[in-house]
Amino acid sequence: APILRSDYRAPDWQVSEIALDFDLDPARTVVRAKLHVTRNGDHDRPLRLDGDGLQPLSVGIDGVAGSNDRWRMDGDALVVDLDGKAHVVETEVAIAPERNTQLMGLYASGGNLCTQCEAEGFRRITFFPDRPDVLARYSVRMTADKARFPVLLANGDPIAHGDLEDGCHWAEWHDPFPKPSYLFALVAGDLVANRATFVTASGREVQLAIWVREKDLAKTDHALDALKTSMAWDERVYGREYDLDVFNIVAVDDFNFGAMENKGLNIFNSRYILADPDTATDHDYDAIAAVVAHEYFHNWSGNRVTCRDWFQLSLKEGFTVFRDQGFSADQGSAAVKRIEDVRSLRAAQFPEDAGPLAHPIRPDSYLEISNFYTATIYNKGAEVVRMLHTILGPQRFRAGTDLYFDRFDGTAATCEDFVASMEEANGVDLAQFRRWYSQAGTPRVTATLEHEPGGGTATLHLAQAVPPTPGQPHKLPMVLPLKLRLFGGNTGRPLGDEQLVLLSDAEATLRFEAVTERPVLSINRGFSAPVIVDTNRTPADLAFLSGHDDDPFARYEAMQQLMLDTLVASVASGRGDHGAVVDAVRETLRNPELDRAFVAEAVLLPSDNFIGDQLPIVDPDAIFRAREALRRDIGRALERDWRQAYEDTRNGAFEYSPEAKGKRRLKTVALGYLAASGAPDIGELAFAQFEQADNMTDRQGALMTLVNGPWDQRVAALDIFYNRYRDNPLVLDKWFSTQALSTRDDTPERVEELAGHRDFTLANPNRARALVGAFGVNQRAFHAADGRGYRFFAQQLIALDRLNPQTAAKMMPPLGRWRRFDPARQQAMRAALEQILASPGLSKDMLEQVSKSLAG
Ligand code: ARG
Ligand code: ZN
Repeated sequence: APILRSDYRAPDWQVSEIALDFDLDPARTVVRAKLHVTRNGDHDRPLRLDGDGLQPLSVGIDGVAGSNDRWRMDGDALVVDLDGKAHVVETEVAIAPERNTQLMGLYASGGNLCTQCEAEGFRRITFFPDRPDVLARYSVRMTADKARFPVLLANGDPIAHGDLEDGCHWAEWHDPFPKPSYLFALVAGDLVANRATFVTASGREVQLAIWVREKDLAKTDHALDALKTSMAWDERVYGREYDLDVFNIVAVDDFNFGAMENKGLNIFNSRYILADPDTATDHDYDAIAAVVAHEYFHNWSGNRVTCRDWFQLSLKEGFTVFRDQGFSADQGSAAVKRIEDVRSLRAAQFPEDAGPLAHPIRPDSYLEISNFYTATIYNKGAEVVRMLHTILGPQRFRAGTDLYFDRFDGTAATCEDFVASMEEANGVDLAQFRRWYSQAGTPRVTATLEHEPGGGTATLHLAQAVPPTPGQPHKLPMVLPLKLRLFGGNTGRPLGDEQLVLLSDAEATLRFEAVTERPVLSINRGFSAPVIVDTNRTPADLAFLSGHDDDPFARYEAMQQLMLDTLVASVASGRGDHGAVVDAVRETLRNPELDRAFVAEAVLLPSDNFIGDQLPIVDPDAIFRAREALRRDIGRALERDWRQAYEDTRNGAFEYSPEAKGKRRLKTVALGYLAASGAPDIGELAFAQFEQADNMTDRQGALMTLVNGPWDQRVAALDIFYNRYRDNPLVLDKWFSTQALSTRDDTPERVEELAGHRDFTLANPNRARALVGAFGVNQRAFHAADGRGYRFFAQQLIALDRLNPQTAAKMMPPLGRWRRFDPARQQAMRAALEQILASPGLSKDMLEQVSKSLAG
């Protein structure tokens, strides 16, 4: 039965303190827990402790062992009858970390032991009220073999450590901040640290350390720098300081998602820590800084102020993503960062909002909370916080966050508390704005600009509609902050200032005076609202804006819209008029004033998937043909410009700076267009780049080009790459994903073959995502007309579900989009979904995703 948000009730029992004692061993770890519990309110209900696959070895109550008549198991939960107000309950369990393939709770990775508890993993370690509104002080003692596990870490500050006679040693840690169980962490392993100190604004000296296996130590400087920069940024921008004497980060190879903000002991997927120029792309470097910042920022937005229940997840995740986006924007080009964020919102969140798994940023129900760590909760959630920032302005927004942090410090809060803080700090009314928390679906705005020639005025008609989503057939109008500006179509001059229009009714009309020439509309500048905008702008208007708008995002957007309109028309007709796009790309490419990273973004065509999202029925082959034809024409018509751009972007020695990154990005884009042009020498050019590169961005960029093309060098490059990096799992992931994303005709067969490769395993989430996950987003290959892509995908998901339900369920959505395709594909996709549903022992995670996809 689903859990409902409306069923929330305060916990019956609070836990003020917990002492944990671990006898660590991968095969059999014994966990003893001592809980100080107090009755919460006036009731006579027993103490109910969550467990997941645990059997108590013993239970003690108030110091009396074995009082078996006072406790019982109810399913997986341990229920204890208590008659007073305050008691001490002790339990002992044994668990087997090395057999934990779900990677939730205590598990083994690369010979070390680590934990993941969010959302409900703590109950796989010990019996506890495993919900975020139970905040306790934790003391942790760990004992382990000293040779195998020389380093023992837990939350908070180290208290004491010592050796035992039998080759074991122990360590004790204490976390002074009360926290929910999902923030618990420990690590035991053979690790070394890259260390630094950070002095906070008020003068506290913090010992920073990034822990990795010895072979990876040289790859941790970038993450450590990002950590120091984040700490200073949060002091400066949000007035938030760190609060413990130590801050530890540990990188592990086996991890279900990006990273985890455990108090004082963040645990990371190694792909978001390890970098050097030879093995990490610029994109990896950027992602590392963003995730390090994200997890660090959670110390306030998530840990000091946590969530009351899991329906409030966006309270910490949406807000923290908004914070990390602001941080990244401040490290380089804010415009390019905004373009990247909108691109990923459109790639991941818009389809979610338009499909069977659509949910509001604050959901009303769930079967399995792990399924709600979604692009909607995270990225749309960040857009909602961004709109508050836009509507209120930076100073009033900051007044709101100050009040929020101050008032809710040390407590478990709700989304409502956040919005109310914004209101109270600023004396504003956000009643209607709250609909962003309750209504799913991407609003659609229609903007029609009319101009009476000679009359000197223009009229803008705005209308909004929020589409129906599963369980929400009727929607109310939202508050949409739309930044807009008019430009003169002849002179190119702005007609007036930028305005912020708050569209809160279903329709509105705006009048503009003194419009002396034909106006062109620039709207949703900076992507001020996460909506889809339909306008009556002509291709000429869009081309004009792509060359002249003063808002870089709007400029990029105009080009994208022009490309999209062109592609949608040619998918329908099978023939395209590419002239306007070619001209606009030429103008942007030749503009010396634009930063190279921006140019690279602006001239890139919308993805196959995004084109498909615009069409009533997705025809993957027609989309691919239309896109390739446009690519070829842009490549051919501008061949000399691309060659020039390619030459101009040759770098000196590797440097990680915004300028150098921009050049490398444009270089790969130029190489791609040259490949599309069909020029005969591109196989050689790409292979030379592949061999001579002194960095992974250039090397992988060249490999990608080769892997999409007909050249013989493709096979050689794949071999060289494999042999060079076979011992580096993160780079080997790139080898798999580059092939899974290939646009070649033989990709489905090739991917099936790769699933049998000796280096392929479903047991490692990064590897599973690199092959199976990447294949799922390769629109043309995944949707191959013979249906083999679906069968392969279903088979892999079924196998993965047995090992790791969370990771399997997370990869499923491409199959759930069956309604968007032609009848033959629909049938094949449904058959694959039904096959998954029928497989014995299906997880709750997968059950929820698949049954919603079949129904909704
Ligand atoms: N809180 C973590 C982060 O955003 C992610 C935890 C994901 N948990 C999950 N069950 N999917 O940084
Ligand atoms: Zn987060």
